[in-house]
Amino acid sequence: MQIALTGTPGTGKTTIAALLPYKVIDINALVKGGMNFGTDPERGCLEADMDALAKHLAWLDSDETQILEGHFSHHFPDWSIVLRLSPAALKSRLEARGYSAEKIRENLEAEALDVILVEAVQFCHRVDEIDTTGKSTLEVAELVARIIQGRLKLPAGQVNWLDEFFG
Ligand SMILES: Nc1ncnc2c1ncn2[C@@H]1O[C@H](COP(=O)(O)OP(=O)(O)OP(=O)(O)O)[C@@H](O)[C@H]1O
Ligand SMILES: [Mg+2]
Repeated sequence: MQIALTGTPGTGKTTIAALLPYKVIDINALVKGGMNFGTDPERGCLEADMDALAKHLAWLDSDETQILEGHFSHHFPDWSIVLRLSPAALKSRLEARGYSAEKIRENLEAEALDVILVEAVQFCHRVDEIDTTGKSTLEVAELVARIIQGRLKLPAGQVNWLDEFFG
């Protein structure tokens, strides 16, 4: 079974996935490893070959729980867990990474407008959403594990950053 761990860049996907007791499949590594159409000249990043990724992931799928980790991992399986982070907290993280003002603005808007969550709901039958703001990495990893183990449900629709971001 494959479950996507998704969210806006900087919300903690890679960090949290590494703390889970499951096999992790790094979608960005697959893209870098060849499942791409080269660099998109406008965006300056690799354009993912979504069909090749979908085929490869279907081939890797098995009875064991596998975490698909990456900001578009929700395109592939039937279940996604979306990490959310308040735009104010996300801003500090993206600044610490040295992102350009434009890239920070783009990502903060995407988080404020629930872009990944809405996509996940379009692609997946089940979507859980975790507000990671103010939670330690261990606390978030435990929530993810409890959701996967069927001990917790956090359905999409709990988070609303609009007042904070536009208010
Ligand atoms: N719950 C948390 N509390 C504090 N810091 C965190 C938490 N989760 C992640 N971080 C920190 O935030 C930064 C971004 O985390 P990470 O690289 O895991 O994000 P990501 O979602 O994988 O981003 P990308 O989509 O760009 O790969 C890292 O420095 C990480 O240590
Ligand atoms: Mg990452």
